[in-house]
Amino acid sequence: MAKNKSKAGNSPKKSKKAQGIKKAALKANIKKSATNQKFKIAPSKSQPKEFDQVQPAVKKTNKKLSITDEAKLRLESAHFRFLNEQLYTSRSSDAWNLFQEDPQSFYTYHKGFQNQVAKWPVNPLDLIIKELKKEPKTSVFADFGCGEARLSASVPHQVHSFDLVAANENVTACDMAEVPLENRSVNAVIFCLSLMGTNVNDFLIEANRVLTVGGMLYIAEVESRCHNAKAFLKSMEKFGYKLKEHNSSYQYFFLAKLTKTHNTSKKFSLPKLQLKPCLYKKR
Ligand SMILES: C[S@@+](CC[C@H](N)C(=O)[O-])C[C@H]1O[C@@H](n2cnc3c(N)ncnc32)[C@H](O)[C@@H]1O
Repeated sequence: MAKNKSKAGNSPKKSKKAQGIKKAALKANIKKSATNQKFKIAPSKSQPKEFDQVQPAVKKTNKKLSITDEAKLRLESAHFRFLNEQLYTSRSSDAWNLFQEDPQSFYTYHKGFQNQVAKWPVNPLDLIIKELKKEPKTSVFADFGCGEARLSASVPHQVHSFDLVAANENVTACDMAEVPLENRSVNAVIFCLSLMGTNVNDFLIEANRVLTVGGMLYIAEVESRCHNAKAFLKSMEKFGYKLKEHNSSYQYFFLAKLTKTHNTSKKFSLPKLQLKPCLYKKR
């Protein structure tokens, strides 16, 4: 790119048209360089086409980054992709250990995640917040994998917010496979893009334990993580949940509302639920 730039600057005798073409090429190169460290979601075989079209997180800019800033951005992007992959491909106990050893990496992960979700036309958390606001003020919620606990800050209800790292005083740090709540103590459990560990069964069983019978379970998940979201949601009947609403009209995710029908536990023989990891690749 530096080569292009100096050439363009050293060609005073070239025709106006040739200079115009060079300028355009230079501009395109700068844009490419400024954006090629950002992530895009790697398409899997069954992934909808839109995932190929996810745009860079940061606004395109014609300004050239300094070598140091570019290197920093590349490192940060690589770190985010690594953490994301770890979260999706390991058991939650391993994810817990990962963040215990390096809590700072939680913030790197969240910066990357926020960049991604900011590109979506709708953030599923906003839809869930809108739904929860309609619930009686006495209802109690538990946000499993709450991130920075925006949900808790957005509704007037009591919310127990859990994540692997306590990003602020509203969050309790724990593995959501085992949360510090009494049996049947909450009216709704929320998994907003947080069914990340490979032990999905443990999360659903734990949510069942803390929910009242008749309580609600909200799940927002990346559409392409399921071979068949409908079948996935149907299989949750065995975990004590009945599907009430399923909206798959959003571009990147589905949103489901289920109700708890009965108590379940690890004692019962349950099918092993699996979700595909949602990985990002380097642009
Ligand atoms: C994609 S982020 C979504 C955050 C938030 N729900 C939102 O929609 O903004 C998923 C979150 O789930 C958390 N998470 C993943 N596995 C977890 C586990 N086993 N226990 C607690 N939190 C977990 C991650 O640390 C991350 O903060």
